[in-house]
Amino acid sequence: MNIVILTGAGISAESGIKTFRGNDGLWENHRVEDVATPEAYCANPELVLSFYNARRHALLNTGIQPNAAHTALARLQYSHHDVTLITQNVDNLHERGGSPSVLHMHGELLKQICTGCADVTLIEWAQTVRDVCACCSAVGTLRPDIVWFGEMPKLMDEIYSALDRADVFVAIGTSGRVYPAAGFVEVASASGAHTIEINLEASDVAPAFAEHRIGPASEQVVEWVNELLAD
Ligand code: OAD
Repeated sequence: MNIVILTGAGISAESGIKTFRGNDGLWENHRVEDVATPEAYCANPELVLSFYNARRHALLNTGIQPNAAHTALARLQYSHHDVTLITQNVDNLHERGGSPSVLHMHGELLKQICTGCADVTLIEWAQTVRDVCACCSAVGTLRPDIVWFGEMPKLMDEIYSALDRADVFVAIGTSGRVYPAAGFVEVASASGAHTIEINLEASDVAPAFAEHRIGPASEQVVEWVNELLAD
C-alpha cells in the first residue's frame, strides 16, 4: 500500500517543542512575521539568526527526544508498505526516531545555506552575520536553510508525485493553516486516497478528511500504526 504521511508541529509537541499556533499567536514570544520571513531577515538579520540559534540550541541541548509517534512512523517505514514521510517540521526528531527517509518541505534547523553559492552544510552551532561560507568564501551570506513565509517549499515535485500515487494519506498534528501543505488532503482525495487526520482537535481543513482520530499523537499514531501492521 502507498501511504503518504504529512506531519506538523503537533507530532513534536509531546517531545517538548512548542507548536506555532496556540500561544496567543506568538511563537517563542515572537510574532512569526518578525522571525520567519525574508523581509524580517533583511531588516534585522541578528534577531532572526538569534531566534534560530536559540531553537537549534534547544533542540541539541535540552534533552528533547523523539516520542512514541516518531518511532511508530519509523517502524511503519521499515514495514512492507511504501511510505512517504513529509514533514513541515524543521527539527530532526523523525530521523532520531529511526526514520530512514524524511522530506523536509520547510527545511531543517541543522542546515545552513549560502545565499551566494547555494551550498548547503550541516550546522550545530550559533550562526552570526559575520560567518564565512566554506564553499565560496563570501562573508555574511549564510542563513538557516529554512523555508520562510513567502518562499517556495522544498521537494514539491517529489511530494506531488507521491500524493498522486497515494492509497492512504494521513496528516498528523498540523493545523491546516499553511499552504501548500494544507491542500495536500485535496490532492490525495482527488487521487482516490483514503484520508485520515490525527490531531488533538479538528484542524481548519478537517472537513476534507474522511476519517478523524482525535487525541495526542503519541497515542493515536501508535494505535493507527499497530492496526495497519496487524492487517
Ligand atoms: P501549528 O502550530 O499551526 O499546529 C499544530 C497542530 O498540532 C494543531 O492543530 C494542534 O491541535 C496539534 N497538536 C498539538 N499538540 C498535539 C499532540 N500532542 N498530538 C496531536 N496533535 C497535536 O503547526 P503546523 O501546522 O505544523 O512554517 O504549522 C505549519 C507551518 O506554519 C510550520 O511548518 C511553520 C509555521 O509557521 C514555517 O516556518 C514556514
